[in-house]
Amino acid sequence: MIIHLNGQFLPKDQARISPDDRGFLFADGAYEVVRAYRGHLFRAREHRERFDASLKALRIARPADLDFSALCTGLLQHNQLADAEATVYLQISRGAAPRKHAFPAEVAPTVYGFAASFANPVEKWAAGVKVITVPDQRWARCDIKSISLLPNVLANQLAQEAGAHEAVLVRDGFALEGSLSNFAVVMDEVVHTAPRSNYILPGITRLVGLGLCSALGIPVKEFPVAEADLKCATEAMLFGTTNEVMPVVQINDRKVGDGQPGPLTRKLQQAFRDYVAECQRRG
Ligand SMILES: Cc1ncc(COP(=O)(O)O)c(C=O)c1O
Repeated sequence: MIIHLNGQFLPKDQARISPDDRGFLFADGAYEVVRAYRGHLFRAREHRERFDASLKALRIARPADLDFSALCTGLLQHNQLADAEATVYLQISRGAAPRKHAFPAEVAPTVYGFAASFANPVEKWAAGVKVITVPDQRWARCDIKSISLLPNVLANQLAQEAGAHEAVLVRDGFALEGSLSNFAVVMDEVVHTAPRSNYILPGITRLVGLGLCSALGIPVKEFPVAEADLKCATEAMLFGTTNEVMPVVQINDRKVGDGQPGPLTRKLQQAFRDYVAECQRRG
């Protein structure tokens, strides 16, 4: 595998990162994951803008010569993934310096990236998945795509151990989002999802999904969903770069609706697939 490190493409086993790197010591950095559909970077501009916003919020200077799309494309090309289903991961940490909490003076950020092939979760798309609810133990800046993901990791592990696909994080009684996806339910034929705030990541898939709702005439309410109301949901779904629109058919021990992916979810799922195909056609 060829990775990118600080301006160079090189074999992964030749990559060297300092043990003083603040990404390693403090999880002091930001990241992005972009889906590549046979070379087409899905919503690259939005991912670049969110990356910039995360870096700005963390006060990490983005290297001036870093071209987000060119870097993603370079990673795909170096790994023979230019015509494949793939994901690209990019991360920037504040850089390497002797361990002190406050920012070091004059440190160059560490830029790291890799691409990996990706298999669409077609069986899960067809059958739907189970999610569990877990307490949201994250900080108050979940809108930053920080590499500090321990609460997400712990929540996702609980989901794995429960035989679930995702953990839905509950803060102050509201089901906000998943450990790596946004979350929505259908109640009274209306898609309900948590509004943008510092308590959720502004997901690119969520954004596209809500745009498709509007195009399809599906009403949307961006309003916090109370955990207590989840039992009233007739449908539920996850939005995410690797999930796309993923039907949720079980929340904890309770079936959602009749336990099958719901009709609005199916409609959105298909609309999302069609939109991806159109983006690929347009190049
Ligand atoms: C916590 C969280 N919420 C939502 C998402 C979905 O965001 P996107 O659709 O941009 O992948 C992610 C993606 O990694 C995430 O980590």
